[in-house]
Amino acid sequence: MDKLFKVTKICCVGAGYVGGPTMAVIADHCPEIEINVVDNNKERIESWNNQDLSKLPVYEKGLDQIIKRTRNKNLFFSTDIDYAIKSADMIFISVNTPIKSKGIGAGQTSDLKWVESCARQISLRAKGHTIVVEKSTLPVRTAKTIKDILFASNKSDLGNSKTFSVLSNPEFLAEGSAINDLENPDRILIGGENNDSIKILEQIYSRWVPKEKIIKTNLWSSELSKLTSNAFLAQRISSINSISAICEVSGADVYEVANAVGKDNRIGSQFLSPGPGFGGSCFKKDILNLVYLCNHFGLYEVANYWESIVNINQWQQDRIYKKIVDSLFGNIAGKKITILGFAFKSGTNDTRESPAINISKSLLLEGAFLAIHDPKVKSEQIAIDLNNNAINHDKLQNGLKANEGSWFFYDDIYEASIDSHALIVITEWNDYKNMNWVKISEKMKRPSWVFDTRGILDKIDIQKAGINIWQLGDGGINNLS
Ligand code: NAD
Ligand code: UGA
Repeated sequence: MDKLFKVTKICCVGAGYVGGPTMAVIADHCPEIEINVVDNNKERIESWNNQDLSKLPVYEKGLDQIIKRTRNKNLFFSTDIDYAIKSADMIFISVNTPIKSKGIGAGQTSDLKWVESCARQISLRAKGHTIVVEKSTLPVRTAKTIKDILFASNKSDLGNSKTFSVLSNPEFLAEGSAINDLENPDRILIGGENNDSIKILEQIYSRWVPKEKIIKTNLWSSELSKLTSNAFLAQRISSINSISAICEVSGADVYEVANAVGKDNRIGSQFLSPGPGFGGSCFKKDILNLVYLCNHFGLYEVANYWESIVNINQWQQDRIYKKIVDSLFGNIAGKKITILGFAFKSGTNDTRESPAINISKSLLLEGAFLAIHDPKVKSEQIAIDLNNNAINHDKLQNGLKANEGSWFFYDDIYEASIDSHALIVITEWNDYKNMNWVKISEKMKRPSWVFDTRGILDKIDIQKAGINIWQLGDGGINNLS
């Protein structure tokens, strides 16, 4: 069926961090293909259609210019899912796949309800032959579920013969570098059973991706490779974070260790930056998915191995929080503490699974008053993440003691440091790299502390300004911890 098949219309269900940028790049390279990105979240679609390109729902360098070139030419954002499915030759499923919150596998496996409802809608509305592409990250063998749903509808709908072919095409973009990752991917992975369908998708990517970078596998290898890639990346972060703790007690410096280790070509230098633990919407969920699969297949030792990566990640955040409380004499109730950075990494406004959430929640529970700053994250998002609304401005004037366990968003770093006992750098934004420490020191309470969980600050400058500094993984003698 796929042999003479030509893709003229693509539909992407899910206009999120992946669906939006991925389809924008495809639209930019394939002007003759009409692409409809659809979502049942009306506000999200409205933001994608906003004339003001600074209001797009996803902040990625270069994305606004691609949207400007393609939107309403061959790229359309809409809530009319039925229409987009009906008219498409190829449908990308790019919906969210978070960890299940209840029932069997709760806290471990992916909740596939959005994928399933999407597959049902496709099975109902699609016409003729449709190539269905899994873009979401899915547990191995999800393609079988999708096929079962699609082919079941086919059987019951005898009057309207429709056919499907299912491919797996996981996305490897990282937030903050999404456009570069999409334009220059390390590889494109296409898994499937039907060579013609694979070829059709390959032709789309080969418009800008060299052929040798396009890998073709069977469906299950493709699904499992995505989980494995994320697990390996996260494993490196937990490995270096575990070493950061040894450095602190042994006098070694984790940056020197990471540099020396990374120089071995077999190891490589990427993903060896120590920090407060990995965040983002995917690492934790994808490893937990792997753990769930291993347990399901009775591979308990393998499950424990991968679960330890997530455990170290949680431990890293806990030990940072305890270090802060300890340094402030074991008591932070009513003390102002400044959080610098709330996004899970720099270059994005995404806060999903950000270490800032856990660390802030722990500090709030101890009664601290948090002054939170982030150059891209909005106060409203922080309120959702902390499940705690910011105090109003009048209350802020009523003294710190009254504000125990509450927080306020500051646009200005220097204002956020007034009367603060400690500044904690959680996200490695450039804005924090060249601050005026003398000015900050004058505003802070004494003794003043800076906790640098990303190793981005100049220790000497800070010490010269009369501030105590703790840097993650720094066991050197200048570290006053
Ligand atoms: P997201 O939450 O930002 O976006 C998903 C969108 O799908 C939401 O806007 C939601 O409203 C929509 N949606 C859900 N069900 C729908 C339905 N039935 N019909 C229409 N719309 C529906 O998620 P995301 O970050 O874009 O991730 C999507 C998938 O890609 C996940 O599986 C994720 O693991 C994977 N992934 C994400 C990244 C990343 O950097 N965020 C990178 C690679 C892969
Ligand atoms: C990650 C992968 O890098 C992508 O390839 C993948 O497609 C994506 O997950 C996904 O499946 O969602 P992302 O989560 O956007 O991308 O960001 P990363 O750059 O991988 O960073 C993840 C977390 O690890 C961040 O909190 C970051 O600060 C932390 N990190 C990263 C470190 O602590 N140290 C490092 O050396 C690298």
